[in-house]
Amino acid sequence: MTFPKTRLRRLRRTATLRRMVRETRLSRDDLVLPLFVTEGRGVREPVASMPGVLRFSVDTLVSEAKQVRDLGIPAVLLFGIPAEKDARGSGADAANGVVQRAVDAIKSAEPDLCVITDVCLCEYTDHGHCGIVEHGDVANDPTLERLAAAALSHARAGADVVAPSDMMDGHVAAIRSVLDAHGFEPVAILAYAAKFASAYYGPFREAAESTPRFGDRRSYQMDPPNRREALREMRADLEEGADMLMVKPALPYLDILADARREFDVPLAAYHVSGEYAMIQAAAERGWLDGERAMDEALVAIKRAGADLILTYAAKEVAARLGA
Ligand code: PBG
Ligand code: ZN
Repeated sequence: MTFPKTRLRRLRRTATLRRMVRETRLSRDDLVLPLFVTEGRGVREPVASMPGVLRFSVDTLVSEAKQVRDLGIPAVLLFGIPAEKDARGSGADAANGVVQRAVDAIKSAEPDLCVITDVCLCEYTDHGHCGIVEHGDVANDPTLERLAAAALSHARAGADVVAPSDMMDGHVAAIRSVLDAHGFEPVAILAYAAKFASAYYGPFREAAESTPRFGDRRSYQMDPPNRREALREMRADLEEGADMLMVKPALPYLDILADARREFDVPLAAYHVSGEYAMIQAAAERGWLDGERAMDEALVAIKRAGADLILTYAAKEVAARLGA
């Protein structure tokens, strides 16, 4: 059936028709807001490279969490910025570390908000790498113990979900076995499974003060041209016990997300990362594009490609636009 019988424009004619045949809808339920928590009191510090994003101290974070809940956003993802850093990232698993206190404070004030913690060492190491450095590179197996200890400390603080973002081999198995050995079987793992060595993390590294002092992350994060390898990464994390898988960044990797959607039946998350967010904000500030429309379009495209959950710094503004 072709033109002139078929006219695809018929169903685009009015807003009502478009609403009726719309295939994908963004919902507040899809959103996760990443938040940065730092030491101090009363802190609400703007991140220059991410307009609209703030660093909070534990006290101000709690009021932010209440707003997030009131907007109908189900979950937050916490990143800690400790006062002190060292070679082994001691702050990552400190019982009274900044993230651990933040988790406890949010879960006490807003028990229904799902708290996800980022599990990595890069915010806590003085060299800024995601693991223990030996002979100039990140050593995989010694790092696993540190990651498992960090995840356990987050679970003890009350985290609902832990999200390892380190890209070490065997990280999910290491975390799962330590959690289970300590009675935290119900704590879920959201694995940053297909995480690429991306230029789009630039603004985040400023926000989290986690830029590597030497080298880069290419010996552990994925090489951007690789598609089949992403499936192997995701399969490995699933076999190790991941409950949910993440693809990161989002827009430049929608093919990976679509592959994952076809291949796996677990919930999939996509991280619309700092650089993706900053590009839209920067262009909107200059009046070069409509920031709200560009953001909504980016997020619905991520959902269309197969994401169940979208981690985005725009979660609050988008949730407010979506309404009840
Ligand atoms: C740390 C981590 C990073 C991001 C999330 N967890 C940075 C990195 O790997 O360099 C990036 C998030 C963003 O850019 O928004 N492992
Ligand atoms: Zn890291």
